[in-house]
Amino acid sequence: MHPLFQQDLQNIDQLLEQVRQLSSDYLSTIAVKPTGLAQPPTAAFTLPTEGAGAASAITYFNTYIQPYLVASSGPRYLGYVTGGGTLAAIAGDWLTSVFDQNTQNTTGIGDLSAFLEVATIRMLLDLLQLPDDFYGGFVTGATVSNFTCLAVARQWVGQQSGKDIARDGLPFAIDIYSATPHSSTLKSLAMLGIGSGNIISVPTLDSREAMDVGALEQLLQQKANKPFILLCSGGTVNSVDFDDMQAIARLKNNYTFWWHIDAAFGGFAACSPAYAHLLKGWEQADSITIDGHKWLNVPYDSAVFFTRKAHASLQVQTFQNTNAPYLGDPSEKFSYLNFLPENSRRFRALPAWFTLHAYGKKGYQSVVEHSISMAQLLGEKLEKSGLYILSAPVWLNVVCFTTRREENRGASVQRIVEKLNARGKVFLTPTVYKGVPSLRAAFVNWRTTQADIDLTIEELLAVYE
Ligand SMILES: Cc1ncc(COP(=O)(O)O)c(C=O)c1O
Repeated sequence: MHPLFQQDLQNIDQLLEQVRQLSSDYLSTIAVKPTGLAQPPTAAFTLPTEGAGAASAITYFNTYIQPYLVASSGPRYLGYVTGGGTLAAIAGDWLTSVFDQNTQNTTGIGDLSAFLEVATIRMLLDLLQLPDDFYGGFVTGATVSNFTCLAVARQWVGQQSGKDIARDGLPFAIDIYSATPHSSTLKSLAMLGIGSGNIISVPTLDSREAMDVGALEQLLQQKANKPFILLCSGGTVNSVDFDDMQAIARLKNNYTFWWHIDAAFGGFAACSPAYAHLLKGWEQADSITIDGHKWLNVPYDSAVFFTRKAHASLQVQTFQNTNAPYLGDPSEKFSYLNFLPENSRRFRALPAWFTLHAYGKKGYQSVVEHSISMAQLLGEKLEKSGLYILSAPVWLNVVCFTTRREENRGASVQRIVEKLNARGKVFLTPTVYKGVPSLRAAFVNWRTTQADIDLTIEELLAVYE
């Protein structure tokens, strides 16, 4: 063994203690760490010929890397939809690396990790009030979850006319309908060869992002009941509007389609009796996307797909390893190897299991309801400020707003965002809602408090122009 590896093994306790201390310092001061940084890093990150062991990497990290990282899991990082990592989830995430399993199958030979993944999927179904009619798995993010679900949907469309698309490629164009799809679903369609430009756009309801289901039916009546994919939103990213799941479920009686719901963060509305009605009917979907690194507050690299058990053979056709005897026969046993895009994969369920076990249904109900109340509070304060107005009602946990001044609004929103983010106390991202340049503040972080809303308003008033 090279002496540096030997030296690190001998110092295992001191090294891990340094990492523990670093983690603790960061996590206990995250609320005052900057949410944005103006200055660029100063170090040259080059490969040494002779290394100096893990302690030197920790010192280098402390000097040249850590100061340039932002508090993206802190309470006022309100851009995109950014979760915060509960302490239990962070513990699970850390241990995922330490134990470093390659999570594959549930045959009973080997480790427990795939069993725990299956169990964690069941816990999530329970949390989200979905029936046990779905299989699921962990992937890196909602984009890959959407990709996974739509890949199986593509296989299903082929099967309707006796084609095996996974094996033979696309034989024809696939009809896919949506009203307000997230960009990641378009990216998925691009990757799947369906084509991101081939979505048939369904009108939305007036002043809403939700699908006009009546208009969808009119579009469908022009087609001779050709099987299609319906792509729905269980929470749009700007206004968190929901397609009417019950009305869409009823369409299943008359039309042949694969129903996919992107509920990356909106799916967590099901944790609260006050908001669960927004998803009523979603249990009839063929596939659903849920993110872990948003409202579940698990560190990045966590999302889940749910696909109906009835479609399992289509899923294996799509993701099987067909020419690798050393990986076993895909038809013989359940293995994640043949069920999702990756082959080797980390024990990604562990952080989610830790946090679900630690805080349970009530814990998540409180996170969801608290986030929504924080969004409502910011919305009220913005309206009262006299300077900003809401671009959309606060339907759930995102506040989409703009400046009251209408002239040159686009440029002014851009400058407000730049100034705000450079000050490093609050981080927001810009958007365009129904043609109106706007800002978004998304609340999913378990740590955000009323004091954070007060500071956010102070900052927004300070940068107004
Ligand atoms: C509705 C929706 N779907 C998909 C995604 C993509 O998620 P990820 O970045 O985890 O791939 C997002 C991200 O904000 C989202 O809000």
